Amino acid sequence: MSEGNNKTIVVTGATSGLGLALVSQLKDAGYNAILTGRNGEKVTMLAAELGVPGYVLDVADGQSIDTVCKQIEDEQGQVWGLVNNAGIWLEGDFENYTPEEIRAVMETNTTGTMMMTHQLLPGMLARKRGTIVNVISTGALYTRKIISVYCASKWAIRGFTGALEAECAPKGVRVMGFYPGKIASDMYQSAGIERDLEMAMTPEQGAAMIIRMLEDEDMVWSQVSGRAIRDYV
Ligand SMILES: NC(=O)c1ccc[n+]([C@@H]2O[C@H](COP(=O)([O-])OP(=O)(O)OC[C@H]3O[C@@H](n4cnc5c(N)ncnc54)[C@H](OP(=O)(O)O)[C@@H]3O)[C@@H](O)[C@H]2O)c1
Repeated sequence: MSEGNNKTIVVTGATSGLGLALVSQLKDAGYNAILTGRNGEKVTMLAAELGVPGYVLDVADGQSIDTVCKQIEDEQGQVWGLVNNAGIWLEGDFENYTPEEIRAVMETNTTGTMMMTHQLLPGMLARKRGTIVNVISTGALYTRKIISVYCASKWAIRGFTGALEAECAPKGVRVMGFYPGKIASDMYQSAGIERDLEMAMTPEQGAAMIIRMLEDEDMVWSQVSGRAIRDYV
């Protein structure tokens, strides 16, 4: 693994699971890994534990995105990488979801990813250098019952990622999608769902895959395949 060259990488939803494992591994690999999350207590505690900068950032709140991204750029310098990882699970028959649950999933998984990108992409484009990884899901590769809104939230980001990948690669910025299957995190439990995670990948395994995608600067790994960056220019 490379030393990371002190590149600054912002990870959203990093107070548990995949995001937390990723910040920890990025730090060990020499990156300036920025731990962000919506829960202030967890952010303070985990950032201190790992010895990384921590910021309270709620991706479902546009004002929080604006203010905190500007603060990160002021205090940490140029942001080279963004991992849009924050996400929530919703399971059950569609007619039983509350309007608030539907909005929360779309505002977190979908709008949150777009607005974080909208905030940090211009700096990357100006420098003709940067990398964005959107944590999507195999739920954006198929459809199945009882996850209609979660599926929709991730299918939207699959489309967003693919379009932005083609738009930004010729401008020197990689936009990539990571499509994990089940991860042994707290995601289902936090949504009140019991799930057998015995066969799931660990957050640490998922984090190692994202680091591989980040480090391979000549390649755009997306849509479950990859392309050499020279193919775009
Ligand atoms: N677990 C799976 O099987 C699986 C499979 C495919 C894809 N994924 C995707 O992987 C990503 C990471 O999930 P995970 O499995 O690591 O689950 P997780 O342990 O529940 O982590 C999700 C993180 O997102 C944070 N978050 C939720 N809403 C947020 C908001 N509005 N603003 C900022 N942070 C917010 C959570 O913070 P709190 O602690 O404050 O809630 C938590 O730190 C998600 O995008 C998920 O959809 C997961």
